[in-house]
Amino acid sequence: MKLAVFASGNGSNFQALIDEATIRPHIELVVCDRPEAYVVKRAEQHAIPVFTFSAKAFANKAAYENAILHELEKYAVDFVVLAGYMRLIGPTLLTKFLNRIINLHPSLLPKFPGKDAIQQALDAGERETGVTAHFVDEGMDTGPVIDQARVLIKKEDGLEELTAKIHQIEHHFYPNVVKQLILKQGEGFEK
Ligand code: GAR
Repeated sequence: MKLAVFASGNGSNFQALIDEATIRPHIELVVCDRPEAYVVKRAEQHAIPVFTFSAKAFANKAAYENAILHELEKYAVDFVVLAGYMRLIGPTLLTKFLNRIINLHPSLLPKFPGKDAIQQALDAGERETGVTAHFVDEGMDTGPVIDQARVLIKKEDGLEELTAKIHQIEHHFYPNVVKQLILKQGEGFEK
């Protein structure tokens, strides 16, 4: 199975994926919408091809997603793993990769979809939150859930503490999900 990882920022989850020996050989490509993001350096350090783009340079979402599609086809990518990719996937990519795009979200979906999920949980006074891996559909963090893990929120936790706890969990949780996916060659993860 050939994977592309999409990311927009630091890429600590991308790092956790490539640190997993069973996953690393499957990662063909990194797609990043912020050319200055640290994830680009991480990919380069590991000699993994990177496609960076700036959405502003394209007329619309369909145009940049067509450019991404071209890259995915070039590397014969079967499956897309979103790891901190901060853009909604549009119909251009979804149609071609139906049931073949997964996402990691820092909340127990369906609670707190969208941006700032960790802050949303704090603002709501929750005692626990967590992380979710799910299939991507046309909605914002709405696709079928694959797996979830819980994280307790202590009274003294602020955004920084809770973000650190979430990341710690994610770095084990997401590689496990992706490993299962590879083992099953994408089957059993269908809707
Ligand atoms: C992760 O916490 C991931 O759950 C979140 O972005 C972070 C990326 O961190 N994703 C979303 O919020 C998607 N809506 P990283 O760049 O260090 O992997």
